[in-house]
Amino acid sequence: MRTLTIGLLGCGTVGRGFVELLDAERSRIRARYGLELHVTRILVRDLSRERAGVAAELLTTAPLDVVDGDCDVVVELIGGTHTAGTLVRRAIASGRHVVTANKALLAAAGAELFDDAVRRGVEIGFEASVCGGVPVIGALRRGFSGDSIESIRGVLNGTSNYVLCRMDEGLSLADAVSCAQELGFAEADPTLDLSGEDAAQKLAILAQLAFGEGVRRASVSGIASLRTADLRRARRNGEVIRLVAEARRVPGGVELEVGPRRLPAGDPLATVRDEQNAVIIRGRAIGEVTLSGRGAGSLPTAAAVMSDVIAIGISSRAGARLVA
Ligand code: HSE
Repeated sequence: MRTLTIGLLGCGTVGRGFVELLDAERSRIRARYGLELHVTRILVRDLSRERAGVAAELLTTAPLDVVDGDCDVVVELIGGTHTAGTLVRRAIASGRHVVTANKALLAAAGAELFDDAVRRGVEIGFEASVCGGVPVIGALRRGFSGDSIESIRGVLNGTSNYVLCRMDEGLSLADAVSCAQELGFAEADPTLDLSGEDAAQKLAILAQLAFGEGVRRASVSGIASLRTADLRRARRNGEVIRLVAEARRVPGGVELEVGPRRLPAGDPLATVRDEQNAVIIRGRAIGEVTLSGRGAGSLPTAAAVMSDVIAIGISSRAGARLVA
C-alpha cells in the first residue's frame, strides 16, 4: 500500500467535492490501486465558515502551511493566475506534484510550468481544467497520440450553455446567470464565462495538446449581448444557439475561434443541454470522436481531479516520499 499525502489549496465548490468524493471512494481506491490518499492540510479564506464533512483541524488560512507542509501532491483549486501561480511554482520547485483545475493559469503560463515540472521530475495533472468530468485531456494525451488531429470543435463552457438553455425557456440572461452562480457552475467572475474567455482558455489548452506549436487566437466573443428574442428567432428557423469553440488547421498554423453560433437542430452540439460540455475531435486516421458529459460542477470536476491524483500515485515513486 502506498500513502500519497495531499495538500489542498481551496475548499470551494470543487475542493469540497474532492473531500466528499475521497470519503466515498477511499476504500475502492485502496483496493483497486493500492493507494492510501490522505489530505494533510486545506487552504481556506475564512476559517469560521461552515463546511460539512471537512475536518476543521485540517484548515488553514496560510498558503505555505499547505505548500511547504507534509504533502506529495498539491491540489490547486483556488483559480486565478497570481496567487495560484506563485504557489504552484513553489510546489514544483520543492518537488511536489501538482494537480490543478486552473485553466487560466495553464493558458497563461502552461509552457513554463510544464518545463519546470520536467526539470524537477514532477507531474502536473490538469484533467479538471477542461470540460470538468469529461476526460478530454486524457483522450488527447493518450488516445490520440498516434494520430494527427485535424480539428477540435465543442461546447466548453457549462455556464454559457446552461444560460442559453434557460434563456431558450424564456428566462432573462441576468436571471439565468444568477441560477448558474447558485448552482456553482459560474466562475467567481462570471464575465469570464459570458465573454467566451473561459472557453477560449480551455480551447487553448486543448489546442496546445493537440497541435503543439503554431496555435493562434483568431476571435473570441461570448453570449453577454444575446437576448431571449435572439434565441426565439433562431428556434423559429429550426436552429439553436450555442457558444462554440473551434480549433482548425489553416495554412501556416492552427486558428482558435470562440463565439455564439446558430446551429441546425441536427448538429451534435445543438443537443448539448444545461451545464453539459461536448467536444468533437477529428483525427486523420481515427475520424470523428465525440466526448460529452458534465463540464462543470462539484463532483464531476472533483472526479477529474481525483483521476489525476490516482494517476500520479500509480506512476510516481510517491510511496518513497518525494519530499524530504
Ligand atoms: N465556469 C466554468 C464553466 C466552470 O461554466 O464551464 C468549469 O470550468
